[in-house]
Parts: sequence; C-alpha cells; structure tokens
Amino acid sequence: MTDLRQQSQPPEVLRDRIAAVLGRARDRSILLTEAVDDDDLVRQHSPIMSPLVWDLAHVGNQEELWLVRDVGGREPVRHDIDELYDAFKHPRKDRPALPLLGPGEARTYVATVRDKVFDLLDGIRFDGRRLVADGFAFGMIAQHEQQHDETMLATHQLRTGPPVLSAPPPPAAAVPVTGEVLIPAGPFVMGSSTDPWALDNERPGHLVDLPAYVLDAAPVTNAEYLAFVADGGYTEPRWWSGPGWRHRSSAGLSAPMHWRRDGTGWGYRRFGRFAPLVPDEPVVHVGYHEAEAYAAWAGKRLPTEAEWEKAARWDPVSGRSRRYPWGDQDPTPEHANLGQRHLAPAPVGAYPAGASPLGVHQLIGDVWEWTSSPFQGYPGFTAFPYREYSEVFFGPDHRVLRGGSFGTDPVACRSTFRNWDLPIRRQIFSGFRCARYARPDEVG
Ligand SMILES: [Fe+2]
Repeated sequence: MTDLRQQSQPPEVLRDRIAAVLGRARDRSILLTEAVDDDDLVRQHSPIMSPLVWDLAHVGNQEELWLVRDVGGREPVRHDIDELYDAFKHPRKDRPALPLLGPGEARTYVATVRDKVFDLLDGIRFDGRRLVADGFAFGMIAQHEQQHDETMLATHQLRTGPPVLSAPPPPAAAVPVTGEVLIPAGPFVMGSSTDPWALDNERPGHLVDLPAYVLDAAPVTNAEYLAFVADGGYTEPRWWSGPGWRHRSSAGLSAPMHWRRDGTGWGYRRFGRFAPLVPDEPVVHVGYHEAEAYAAWAGKRLPTEAEWEKAARWDPVSGRSRRYPWGDQDPTPEHANLGQRHLAPAPVGAYPAGASPLGVHQLIGDVWEWTSSPFQGYPGFTAFPYREYSEVFFGPDHRVLRGGSFGTDPVACRSTFRNWDLPIRRQIFSGFRCARYARPDEVG
C-alpha cells in the first residue's frame, strides 16, 4: 500500500506546464476584472470580501515576492507596496480605505511582474532548493492566483447589478445516482509526500485506519435540502449544535444564501440572474452549521475529512491511494465540473466518468463539501514555505472543506487538497454530503 510516487518531469516539459498554468490563471484574472468597470473594481461588494482590485494586485505581489525576488533573486518591482497587499496586515473590511493601486496601475504591475517571471523561467533549473525543485514555487503561485480567482468569482456572486458573466450551462444528468455507498473498513494513505505541487497542509502521506462507513453517493441536492427547509429545519433547535443555533438565530437564517421565495416555491440568484431552483443540482452556499443541521435531520452526520478522502482516493483493487476518484489522470471536462467552465454546479449524475470505483459521484468539482474535521496539521507536519500559508489557521475555529467547486481550477484541486473556513461562512461555493457509521448487518 503506497502513495503514488510521481516522476520528476524533464525541465522543458515542466517549463511548458508552468507557462500553461500561469497563463490560464492570468486569463481568468483578466476575465473576472475586465467584466466590470473601474468603479466596480475598487468598490467593496461585501465586508467579508476585498475589492477586486486588491485581489488582482495581491496576486501580483505574491508572485513578485516568491518568484521574482526569492526564486529569481531579482530586484524588487515595487517593494513600496508589500505592506498594502499583505493579507495578514489588513483585514478585508479595511482594504478599501488603503491607498491601493488603481485599476490601471494594478494591471500594469501584474503584467510587469509576469514578464519578469517568464524571463526567469526560461533559464531556470528545477533542482537544488526545495522551493524550486519540481517547479514547486511556480505551482504554488499558480494555485494561489486560481484561489484568488475563485474568491473573485464569489465576490461576483455577491455583487448587485445586472449580470456581467456568462457561460454555457453544465451538462445534464447522464445516469441516475441515489442512495449510499459502503466503504469497507481498513487503512489507506491520507495526504501525500510525493505529489510535487502538494501544499504543506497536504503533507506528509500517512496511514489512517477507518472502520466501515456509509457515504452518500452524491452531494445533497436542492430538492433534498428544500425538504429540510419545508419541514421547519430552520426553526427546530434540536437539529442544530449550540453554536449553530445561536448563529442561525442571530443571523436570521431561513434558507441557503441567495435563495429567495418565488411565489409558492424558491428561486436562486446566481451571478445577477434569478431562476427557479434546479431540483437535482447540489445545494450550494450553505455554511457548516446548516450542513450539520441537515445531516442531523436526515439521521446522519457529516463525514470526517479522512472519510471523504478515502472515498475519493482508495482503490479497492490495488489498495493504493490515487490522485482522483477516477485514477491518477488529470481532470478532463468528462470527469468533473471544474475551472469556471460553467457558472453553476452540475446536476447529480452528470459525471459518470468521474465516479470512484465504489460508485461515489461528484466528489471533485461542483461544490466544496464541508467535513466535520477541524483544520489541523497531519502527523509530522512542517510549515513550508511559510507559516502563514496554513499553520496559523490550525485549530478548532476552522472546518475543512474538500473536493473543489465549479469555480476551482484543476491546478488547485486534487483528492488531497484541503480548503478551510469558518463554520458560519457561506459566500463560498459550499455544499456537502452526509455519512453514517455502517450497521453490523451491512458489513457482514
Ligand atoms: Fe492570498
């Protein structure tokens, strides 16, 4: 039982891959920031989000710090702005009042930094320091930009006004997917010590032994969640944890974020367009507390992140942990709804090619899935390349989400990837599926 040992790629292949993933991230950043006018770029659309123009220049500043200065050893482009774009110095609510680069300056800045990065990429050898081995720093920066692109997409979802983004609808359901899947007891390798672009919180790979459990074959859908709402789920404290009920009450929650009553039913506002709920689409924009309450109402619980990851990686034939539910192959549009190709989760059953060998569907893409696990370092964790990447967020305050959403790029999505957020947050593209312990009669 081993983790996948990934071969180092020849430098020219790695250079092409890095250029492609950096280019894809930048195309997306440009699309998300050119979709609105300058007033919209500098405006704060929600106190929990940055102005879009902050995200743009922050992406460039991180790229400058790690690639231009650290990896490349080059002179700073703009050392005078480091402090403005340090996410730990200024909370999001304070960022609009900072003397930020304007839209034109920010665009020029990120383009200048990128030119320098491509210049140094030409001659670099991917060996020596751990930061540059296998192109790690470049992969980290591509993932960072895509993570901010997803955050910017969430900002777009929060902004008011006419729609400015469009995309084809996701594919329809191709197969019926209902019920639950039994995952047999036994150990599996969780995390990775060998995936070259895995981030510090995914490391090291380690054995985790789980008892048998049962996991929903698909994420909880709008129709299923609506049954909880219609059954008075939001007015019944017994389904909620103490902190969950207090938050539900003080925030006045009565449905997922962006749901609105529409005559006798419910509709959903999505990137400026209002439409009836799609019944077989995974529910999105629910917080951890809501997911936990639904699971209790359904007589189940949320999976731990180990349970989620075993379902998404463990191959029952070889016993090996793979990169994705379908194997080690990078995601294609047939496997999963990733990369903002669509602006919505796909209905359950839309990605049969992406199912796990045991028949668990849509673990990757569509919606981030809340797990019951607090965000912690794995046994043997070491912070790399800096403590603020992950370690400062460890502890009981944050819960782990897994699997990526329709707004997550494949470079920042794999079955070991860990996202985290506060239990009250629901501006992210978050849904969930339920789990339960296997009954004795189910495990034979
Ligand atoms: Fe960042």
